Amino acid sequence: MEPTASPPDAAGPPPGATRSTVTLHVNGVPHRLTLDHRTTALDALRVHLGLTGTKKGCDHGQCGACTVLVDGWRANSCLLLAVALDGSALTTVEGLADADGLHPLQHAFMERDAFQCGYCTPGQLCSAAGMLQEAADGHPSHVTPDTVTPGAPVELTADEIRERMSGNLCRCGAYPRIVEAIGDATAHPAAPPVPHTVHGIGAVSVNGGGRTAS
Ligand code: FES
Ligand code: FES
Repeated sequence: MEPTASPPDAAGPPPGATRSTVTLHVNGVPHRLTLDHRTTALDALRVHLGLTGTKKGCDHGQCGACTVLVDGWRANSCLLLAVALDGSALTTVEGLADADGLHPLQHAFMERDAFQCGYCTPGQLCSAAGMLQEAADGHPSHVTPDTVTPGAPVELTADEIRERMSGNLCRCGAYPRIVEAIGDATAHPAAPPVPHTVHGIGAVSVNGGGRTAS
């Protein structure tokens, strides 16, 4: 009997294809894009969708300037291939505000003057939005005391904020005011929750490195 070839994966691109069509839900709006498989989520946002609020810093997963939320989880968009995010919901800095006005974090950054050049700020804001939800959901950080009840919301002390934001660098050194601004936002009763889902988590590089903002 002749050996039979494996049937092609109906869900995947044909053999040899270099481009695929995917749907990215960006800030609540579905976008159908045909992209080269090498296109990062960052370039899909900036080049293909014209959403230039998300910044390209190192393009190597080191600085956090490109941080967005993917299904509620913060991620370095320069490390994600857009075609791996088919069906995912992305939130960029352009999507943090709503019809009622700026996100409480945006208000707090303005009140605290928590930036200088502003290049890192979109990434700081998206990272902080994801971080607030992680803490509220009880995810511990490296500095969370062992005495905290597992799964209980984690109090965001200045040390917790510094540790959890350590993947977002600021070359202007605005760290003290960034920590203060995020601290202000944690007490804001109107801070909208960012829903976490498990969709696509396998493709997400969760932000947060070993550096410590000070
Ligand atoms: S541009 Fe993505 S981490 Fe620096
Ligand atoms: S405000 Fe300039 S890099 Fe952070």
